[in-house]
Amino acid sequence: MAILPIITFPDKILRKKARKIKTIDKSIKSLSYDMLDTMNDAGGIGLAANQVGVLKRLIVVQIPEEEEPRIYINPEIIYREGSRMVEEGCLSVPGFIGTVERSIWVKFRALNLESKTVRIKADSLLAQVLEHEVDHLNGILYMDHLSEHEKLRSISEEEYSSTLRPVQKLNQAEDLTVFHPHSESEINP
Ligand code: NI
Repeated sequence: MAILPIITFPDKILRKKARKIKTIDKSIKSLSYDMLDTMNDAGGIGLAANQVGVLKRLIVVQIPEEEEPRIYINPEIIYREGSRMVEEGCLSVPGFIGTVERSIWVKFRALNLESKTVRIKADSLLAQVLEHEVDHLNGILYMDHLSEHEKLRSISEEEYSSTLRPVQKLNQAEDLTVFHPHSESEINP
């Protein structure tokens, strides 16, 4: 197991679409464990393979209240419902957070390391992380979802390490009824 360097914005690999994994072999298993190490080391709760420079559809997730990490191959959001505004950050965009629109709940499907299909219904933080990580595999960053009235804002190192931990501090759903159209983000970290 190893800690891998995390690719940061604006590296172009973050904008590429990751490819489907056909065989879950040793190299995929070892990549997932390395990604878990990397995510834990960085204090994150989700990481997509693009973020360590590998264009394969693999994500790892570790929600604070859960003991077991989640490892998902070829993950897909197959249904989403509702909308809420949440605060979000990303290990690939260190030092910034923004308010984005996410679903209230999602249906999700993926393979696990044993090549078994896993289907889950998720809400709150888990739904948010799954949407965030599947977005990564499609070359989408959370800034793409910034609401019109919100810009990315920079946060101090201290605030980052104490509150952010990518996609962590985000749970407070607010303003569920107002829909904010997406806009181009104006950031320049
Ligand atoms: Ni991210």
